[in-house]
Amino acid sequence: MKKRILFVCLGNICRSPAAEAIFRHFVQQAGLSERIETDSAGTYGGHAGDLPDPRMRVAAARRGYDLTHRARLIREEDFERFDRILVMDDDNYERVHRLAPSRELARKIDRMRDFCHTERSYIPDPYYEGQEGFELVLDLLEDGCATLLETVKREL
Ligand code: 4NP
Repeated sequence: MKKRILFVCLGNICRSPAAEAIFRHFVQQAGLSERIETDSAGTYGGHAGDLPDPRMRVAAARRGYDLTHRARLIREEDFERFDRILVMDDDNYERVHRLAPSRELARKIDRMRDFCHTERSYIPDPYYEGQEGFELVLDLLEDGCATLLETVKREL
């Protein structure tokens, strides 16, 4: 059975499309592209249809990740389609939780930070930050995606 992983942030133009690209890259390296599918979405639809923020695209490209996702709003059907939903911060968690069609489906939601070796309680929004904010997000996501992949591999 195929596993489907969804990353969620607020705008779906910085953190979650970066997580999607990093995770997909790791999945490809592990030779698991046929078995693990990856997507991302936002809890705010104001950037729907947009490519990721150019600052994130540039920072990610320097590390070898190509960000081509088009932003979209998370929808109720995502709770059926995906096996795991990873949120970047507590605000995302609250909003995604509220959208969950049932308590059982809400159990699919986890915080990305729980897969990271960090004292931080969330993946900080880089939108209003400088370049260091984007580098920090990429550092956290590379760490978290590696741990997440090990977890998902055990569930295949
Ligand atoms: P993201 O960053 O949630 O990591 O995609 C943001 C992008 C856009 C906005 C906020 C955060 N915004 O307010 O438009």
